[in-house]
Amino acid sequence: MKEVNLTIHVILIILVLFIFSLSCSVNSDNNNNKTTIDSLQNNSSNNVSTVLNGERLYSENCALCHQDTGEGAASTFPALKNNNVLNNKQETIKTILKGKGDMQAIYLNKNELISVINYINNNWGNNYGDITDTDIKK
Ligand code: HEC
Repeated sequence: MKEVNLTIHVILIILVLFIFSLSCSVNSDNNNNKTTIDSLQNNSSNNVSTVLNGERLYSENCALCHQDTGEGAASTFPALKNNNVLNNKQETIKTILKGKGDMQAIYLNKNELISVINYINNNWGNNYGDITDTDIKK
């Protein structure tokens, strides 16, 4: 009987240690996720993740016409590289959301709009500054 009791105790202790070690690793995983999410949320437009996001959005929605180089195509599609029109943030927002001439309106949500505009405003040597969500009234 004594031996059975001892075995049960040993098993219980091992179980407790096992569960404890599991919960430790789960916690440390959570912490890792948390820092990743925090660093994503704290990003400014210069942050790598936003730039990548803007770059991806640009290549999916804009590059077809304005080209990866931002240089556009001949007289058909205006260059966005070194285009002073980008100084006018409201005009840029309106162009994308409402379209302009042969450019159809492009549906992007607020964050996507911010990312893509900050990408075109600060890429290819452009330096037209960042927009933030206060620039977007909708
Ligand atoms: C189907 C081709 C096409 C796509 C896709 C497109 N554009 Fe355009 N874009 C144009 C054309 C054409 C104009 C010129 C419109 C005009 O002035 O008549 C233009 C104009 C602009 C202008 C104003 C430039 C100027 O000199 O007046 C900006 C800014 C712009 N586009 C940004 C974007 C962004 C950002 C995207 C992606 C979210 C995008 N465009 C997607 C064809 C396109």
